[in-house]
Parts: sequence; C-alpha cells; structure tokens
Amino acid sequence: MTNEQRKILVTSALPYANGPIHLGHLLEYIQTDIWVRFQKLRGNTCTYVCADDAHGTPIMLKAQQMGITPEEMINQVHVEHSADFNEFHIEFDNYHSTHSPENQALSEEIYNKLNQAGHIKTRTISQLFDPEKNMFLPDRFVKGTCPKCKSEDQNGDNCDNCGATYSPTDLLSPKSVISGAEPVLKDSEHYFFDLPAFQNMLKDWTISGSLQEEMSNKLNEWFEQGLQQWDISRDAPYFGFKIPNTEDKYFYVWLDAPIGYMGSFKNLCDKRNDLNFDDYWNKDSDAEVYHFIGKDIIYFHSLFWPAMLEGAGFRKPSSVYAHGYVTVNGAKMSKSRGTFIKARTYLDHLDPEYLRYYYAAKLNNRIDDLDLNLEDFAQRVNSDLVGKVINIASRTAGFISKRFNATLSPVVSNQALLDEFVAAEANIAALYEGREFGKAMREIMALADKANQYIAEEAPWQLAKNEETLERAHQVCSMGIHLFRVLITYLKPVLPKLADKVEQFLNVELKWADINNTLVNHEIQSFKALMQRIDMKHVEAMVDASKDNLVSATAAAKEEKPASKTNSEIEPIADTISFDEFAKIDLRIARIVKAEHVEKAEKLLRLELDIGSETRQVFAGIKSAYAPEDLEGKLTVMVANLAPRKMRFGESQGMVLAAGPGGKDLWILSPGEGAQPGMRVM
Ligand code: MSP
Ligand code: ZN
Repeated sequence: MTNEQRKILVTSALPYANGPIHLGHLLEYIQTDIWVRFQKLRGNTCTYVCADDAHGTPIMLKAQQMGITPEEMINQVHVEHSADFNEFHIEFDNYHSTHSPENQALSEEIYNKLNQAGHIKTRTISQLFDPEKNMFLPDRFVKGTCPKCKSEDQNGDNCDNCGATYSPTDLLSPKSVISGAEPVLKDSEHYFFDLPAFQNMLKDWTISGSLQEEMSNKLNEWFEQGLQQWDISRDAPYFGFKIPNTEDKYFYVWLDAPIGYMGSFKNLCDKRNDLNFDDYWNKDSDAEVYHFIGKDIIYFHSLFWPAMLEGAGFRKPSSVYAHGYVTVNGAKMSKSRGTFIKARTYLDHLDPEYLRYYYAAKLNNRIDDLDLNLEDFAQRVNSDLVGKVINIASRTAGFISKRFNATLSPVVSNQALLDEFVAAEANIAALYEGREFGKAMREIMALADKANQYIAEEAPWQLAKNEETLERAHQVCSMGIHLFRVLITYLKPVLPKLADKVEQFLNVELKWADINNTLVNHEIQSFKALMQRIDMKHVEAMVDASKDNLVSATAAAKEEKPASKTNSEIEPIADTISFDEFAKIDLRIARIVKAEHVEKAEKLLRLELDIGSETRQVFAGIKSAYAPEDLEGKLTVMVANLAPRKMRFGESQGMVLAAGPGGKDLWILSPGEGAQPGMRVM
C-alpha cells in the first residue's frame, strides 16, 4: 500500500450501437469495472471511459429498416446501453459516442498526421456493388453459392458447409442481401494505411510490452504471415466521418472506433479541470493506458491501433488485455435455447451482483472462454456469498444488537486470526492487479471458511446461555464482525452495492488502507438481510423470457409495443423468394384438440394438434393472449415440417402461426369454413 499514486486510463471495447447489451458483453465490462474499482480503492487515480461505437454499414441499414435516422437510432441505443451498464454497477467516468465532435476532430487530426508522414496510400480496387441500392457491399452483405462445394446461400467470404474461404467475387450466383439484386463489379479509389511500415516498431512493442503470452504468440504469427496495408475508406452512402479533402469517402468504422477512446476521454477532460488530455496521450506521458477487449478484436487493438498512434505521434497503450468468449451451459449463446440473454432480461429476474461475483470467480488473466453454467452459477453464489460470507454477519450481528447495545466488544478475542486476515491483503491485491480474480475470490472464500469455523468452534450461542461466559460470547461475535469487515473490503471491487449496505450496517466506510483498523467499542446498526439466495425458478424464468417466441420472433421482441402500427412501423416485406423455396414449407390445417398451461413456463401453452394423419404436440408462446379453454376445438394453421425442437417441457413438433405485436395483442390464424384437419395450405 506504499506504492506511489499511479495515473491510469482504462477502456473497455465500445459496443456497437445497433443492438442490446447481453451477458457476453458484460463479461468485459464487469472485468474492467472490477479492475478499475480496485485501482480506485487503492488510492490510484484511475479513469474509466467508454462509448457507443456508432458508425458503419450495419448501423446505417438498421436505422433505414426502422424508418428512422441513424442519429435517432444511436441516441435511443445510447440511453438503453447507459441504463444497462448503470444497473450492473459499471461505473464509467464517461460514456460517450464515437459520433461526436471530439472524435471527429481527433480522427481528422490522426489521419492528417498519418497522411503528412506518408503513411496513407491510395489505390483503385474493384468491389461488388449493389446496382439497385447504389452502394458497395461489405462481404457480409453478399451471399451466393460456394464455388467449391456448390452449397447455396453461403456467406461472402466463407462457406459454412465445406469451410472454404474465398473472395465474394468468387461466389456463384451472388446476391445482395439488402436488395436481392445481382451485384456487379465496380471500381473505386480507396485509402490505405501503410501498416507494414510499422512492423519493426510493432515487434519491439510485442517484446517489451506486458502483453499476454497468447497475444504475443498471435502477433508473431501475424508478423510471419506478413502485414498488409489496411483499407480505411468506404464509399458513400456510409454513416461515419467524411475523410478530409475528399468528396464522398468516409472513414471505415474501425478507423474512428479506437480513436473513440481518446474522444471520450477528451470529452471528460473538457468537463473536469483535474484531468489533462495531453498528460495521458503525449508521447512522453508517464500515465498508464490499458484497453480491455474480447479475443475477436485483438488484430485491431494490437496492430492497427498502436501503429496509428505511433504514426500520428501519440503514445502507445501500456497494454491490451484480452478475454475469451462467454458460453452458456457449455455452448454458444443461442436464441432458441434461451441462452442469448440480454442485460435487461437478466435484470428483470436477478440481482446484478450475482453475475459480477460469478464472473469474478471464474476469471483469470488469460484468453480462455468462460462458461456461465446456470446451475453452477446459482450454486456458487448461494454457497459462497450467502452461505459463507453473509453468514458470518447474520449469525453474530443480532446477538450484539440485542444483548450488547449494538456495540462491539473492546477486546479482540483472537488477534492471530485477525492478523491472518489482514496479512492476506498483499496477496489479494496482487491477484486483483494481475487480473487473477478467480484466485482472489478463492483466497477470500478460504478466509470466510476460517471465520465460520472459528464461530462454530466457539459456539457463542452456547456461551451466551451462561452468565460467566456471556462476555466471551460478546467477544466472539464481535470478532465475527471484524473478520466480516475485512472480507467485505476485499470484495468491494466486485460487490459495490453489497459493500454499500455493509458500510451502513457497520457505520464505517470500507477502505483498503483501513484494513488494519479494528472496530473495537464501535457501534453498529441493526442487521438487515444483505443478499437473497438465488432461486432456480428465477433463472428458469429468465431463460424462458430469452427464448425466441415460438409463434414469431418479432412478436416476442416487441411485446411491450402498442398494437396498432403506423405505416413507418410496419415491418418491411422480406426478400423475394422463389415458388420452390416457398413450397418447401408444409403448412397444414390443424384442429386444436387440447390446450393447457405448462408448469413454470411464463409464455407457453401446450397444444395438441390433429393434422389428419397424426397428432402433434406444439408449445406455443401465446399464453398472454389466449386461455386454453378458448382454443380447444378451434381450427388453425401449423408449419408441419419444421424440425422438432427439444424444450425443457418436452418436444415441440412444429409451430402455429400468429400475428401481432405480442402480449394480449396476438392472434392465431384460423382458416375459412369448410377446411379440414390435414389439408395442405398453398
Ligand atoms: N464495436 C466493436 C469494438 C470497437 S472498440 C474500439 C465491437 N463491438 S461489440 O459490441 O461487438 O463487442 C464489444 C465487446 O464485447 C468486444 O470486446 C467483444 O469481444 C465483447 N463481446 C461480445 N460478445 C461476447 C461474448 N459472447 N463473450 C465475451 N465477450 C464478448 O466489437
Ligand atoms: Zn462450400
């Protein structure tokens, strides 16, 4: 604790402004927030900035689809992202946007400096162009037949079927995903950043920096393959910043995105007089700068970004810390399994500190993926936090309040044990500093076990029965509170809200530097429940609420929207399909012979459908709109050849069709009179 105060600037990757924050993203923001809170708790000057990443083709197209301007969309998303982060206790010092004047000025400055230094080259390239939409197509907006295995509907740059990679111009019968039109090749002048010129500098940075070993290895692989010039321009129409001295060229979103870190910090410096932009970004700055990112964006942060900074005369990051990807229950997050869980859906059902603790308990400083196993999650939180940590206070505090005027004993009953707790400080601090949060949590839980063991052995409830040992009981319970105080101080970066409540309960601010100060003769407040156990039924409800609605995914997503839609809200008509494609869907008239509630499912009804030749079981997300008894006997339409899907409640063997925004406003289809079960709908 004697180290000099450090000046540290920390960032997390900037989330795209076209979708909600989900539990995958949150791993990164929670990891960073814990590290930053730890630094602040230790007395360092640590500033944490972030922003929405607001530019690029997907954002432009999504806004178009929604019938609003990109500015309107990114403003809306900014509000939603900020609220999600806030409720997960992610404490940014500033949360800005890349679509900001600060970022534009810095992007132009950096570009101009690179240009003046001869690091920008131009070259004409030929690219696929959508003649209907009048725009160049990014790879992911072209689909077609794989040139290798001839499988249809493959992506512009790789084939899901055979794994081949190719250029979008190699696709057979290519189509624009946006308009369906066949793209044509068109020439355009592009601007390139001369990355290869920085190879030696980057090699030195790799060797000298405090990079993770896996990251250095990756970088060395890339050096061996040879670095390429990087295309930093895009043609209009594009949502982004115009490149200086061009008519209609824009910075590629990944050019101005990392500059957004500086833009957000600049915006903060302008609001505060204790922070100076140049102190942190000048070439000779003595401040530390760290970027926390996911493993998918290492290339941008460890090659392009340091090279751009170097080329424009700024300092380079002190390090870049990558983490792995979140999987849920051992698999990629999936909408159909209900494991693609949005921050908001989680908050509707569970306390954010549970997730903060679970992620902390599983994080290390490597790039491994992290599995959020929902059973293990509940079990871990319940046994560690509620069963071990909170338990120390809940079994000792009441007694002190009732029998001793809520005042702790003047005597420390076991100084050696308290010393052991305090001495763990150096190791726990080193683990936090080194981003080994899992190991830190294990240390803390091992101490919590010792505290509980001490209380169990002393059995204050026995001591209290006897007048002669009553004072000893008081000492033992006070000892429990002393140990509890140390543990909560250690946990404060992970569990800031719990720490808040404990500070009120103990009448003291928990500071790392005060770990040594024991609260003898100290008055406490009465103990209130600090944290509830996780009940699996809330976890299940969260998973249910995250599932694609079986009726219609869009209906589920828009559940809270009003029923009637103005013209601009009507979903655009989907891309044209051929008759053959349509004919693949086997729609049948079905009679609902039975309808019933499904236990523990918030949205589902179980239907038995007679389709002439057989009876099918289907789980339909229409509980909000129909009572089972209203459905029995009715005719409707079902998709009869949809692959069956295993659900927690059983197999769903098809899907019924319905329309409407959701909630009460959901209507299943019914055929005209005379139709019979089993008839095909064409
Ligand atoms: N906009 C870019 C970052 C620009 S930084 C100058 C971007 N945005 S993102 O929204 O796709 O991702 C934001 C961060 O969340 C990235 O670091 C990404 O790796 C991380 N994650 C997104 N999904 C994730 C998981 N499933 N698991 C862990 N991290 C994940 O990339
Ligand atoms: Zn293929």
